Amino acid sequence: MSEWVLILGGSTGHGAATAKRLAKDGYGIIAFHFDRGDAKKLAVETITEVNEITGGRCHYFNTNAAAEETMDKYIPQIKEITSGGPVKLLLHSIAFGTTTNLFGEKPVTQRQMDMTVHVMGNSLLYWTQKLFNMQLLGEGTRILGLTSEGNYLAMDGYGPVSVAKVAMEAIIRQIGWELGRYGITANSLQAGITPTRALTKITDNWEDWVEKTKKRNPMKRTTTPNDIANTISLLLKQEADFINCSIIYCDGGEHRSGTF
Ligand SMILES: NC(=O)c1ccc[n+]([C@@H]2O[C@H](COP(=O)([O-])OP(=O)(O)OC[C@H]3O[C@@H](n4cnc5c(N)ncnc54)[C@H](O)[C@@H]3O)[C@@H](O)[C@H]2O)c1
Repeated sequence: MSEWVLILGGSTGHGAATAKRLAKDGYGIIAFHFDRGDAKKLAVETITEVNEITGGRCHYFNTNAAAEETMDKYIPQIKEITSGGPVKLLLHSIAFGTTTNLFGEKPVTQRQMDMTVHVMGNSLLYWTQKLFNMQLLGEGTRILGLTSEGNYLAMDGYGPVSVAKVAMEAIIRQIGWELGRYGITANSLQAGITPTRALTKITDNWEDWVEKTKKRNPMKRTTTPNDIANTISLLLKQEADFINCSIIYCDGGEHRSGTF
């Protein structure tokens, strides 16, 4: 069994919960985050906890994981950390994009659109290519990216991110299709609405979204980061070896529930 997992966006929300859960499962944690100010304090809390659980088998890097220079600088270090062996998981859990509409007072610009689609979508492809070329992906490696219902529904402020989600899903499908022959699988994990830092940035009405979601969700609550972490823990088991090129839903059935 590979002993290490790599999480892009591992300081808060889904990525942090996954780091803690997989640390408890016995994996060493390599994670990237990009936090300043108050967010940095939250990151320190996560890192301290993961460090304790893993007994120090934990490496967090506070830098822009979407930059090619970051990939080129840190991938050789990752190879040293894993002693050359492949990682068990590459998880993309980065939330960093422009939350605006396509029209109206602040129509999205080309620069914002390109940035959002790169950071929240395409960057997973470049990480995967570079890790694969360095033999850091192998038999049993999982590639996972987080998606949302906004991949097929139009919502206020979610236009650019929804494009990134669709791009990521297509990239994941194609990665699984091309790398499946090596025993490497790639899947999207669709979370329901989860009260995290990212949600508060999508809309000022996020508390309203949360209340409406609780009513709409068949299980009468919102998704938690631990729900996602537990699902990822399951997906790392050998029994999940044949799940590939899929979208896996972890939302209590929210995506099947109408809005009325
Ligand atoms: N919160 C929800 O309702 C929800 C629902 C479905 C899917 N998702 C998806 O889950 C993923 C994680 O979001 P979250 O809700 O946990 O948000 P979050 O804000 O709690 O976490 C985002 C993480 O990304 C990191 N990050 C941001 N920019 C980065 C960069 N350039 N390089 C490296 N790290 C960077 C942050 O440091 C943090 O660790 C996102 O892809 C999001 O779209 C969220």
